[in-house]
Amino acid sequence: MINIAIDGPSGAGKSTIAKHLAKTLGFLYVDTGALYRAIGLYVLRQGEDTRDEDTVEKLLENIQLRLAYVEGTQRVLLNGEDVSQAIRTQEVAMAASNVSAMPCVREFLFSLQQNMARDNNVVMDGRDIGTVVLPNAQIKIFLTATAEDRARRRCLELKEKGQQAEYETVLEEVKQRDYNDSHRAIAPLKQAPDAILVDTTGNELETSIEILTNLVKEKLK
Ligand code: DC
Repeated sequence: MINIAIDGPSGAGKSTIAKHLAKTLGFLYVDTGALYRAIGLYVLRQGEDTRDEDTVEKLLENIQLRLAYVEGTQRVLLNGEDVSQAIRTQEVAMAASNVSAMPCVREFLFSLQQNMARDNNVVMDGRDIGTVVLPNAQIKIFLTATAEDRARRRCLELKEKGQQAEYETVLEEVKQRDYNDSHRAIAPLKQAPDAILVDTTGNELETSIEILTNLVKEKLK
């Protein structure tokens, strides 16, 4: 099987680019952030504290997670319920960020991710795919952009959704999340030594998609 790992901070265009790439290659796109979000959602729904590791560890015993594909699109099934929409809120993003720092949660998701890559050609995106989950991936990409560029894009996205967005506030949040993601004790966000660095700063999305697709096609030749 061919495994392509795409890691990087949020807002660099990872998921959109990875999705396009997977479609072009006919591979499965695996969005691993969705798995952390589903666990965050479950803990929130139980009314429990997403920062309390003992509680989260106990709750994991009641969680069954599965990825399904409907017309090529990933769906996340939490105890049989399709939560693909429900996990896309800011509250769940924060909950996911909290639970993703816990070793029990990372361990819980480890084999699910590895099995997907063992059984399918995948483009898998996340934070630790090239470093921890798929250290033997044939192609590893670390996709990044400056915090300012990512904050600008996030502001645009929020405004398109009709939500208030103050650039300075968004930039602070982006920097804070970068710091948290790259300084946590377990599986921190960092570029694998054999990953190709792609900086999308200043690019239109189409340009980044083209750069990455060409790069991968060249590598797969
Ligand atoms: O990419 P995302 O925003 O959907 O990710 C949600 C959270 O999960 C984010 O805080 C980072 C974390 N995450 C992780 O720790 N490891 C991954 N492989 C994917 C996501």
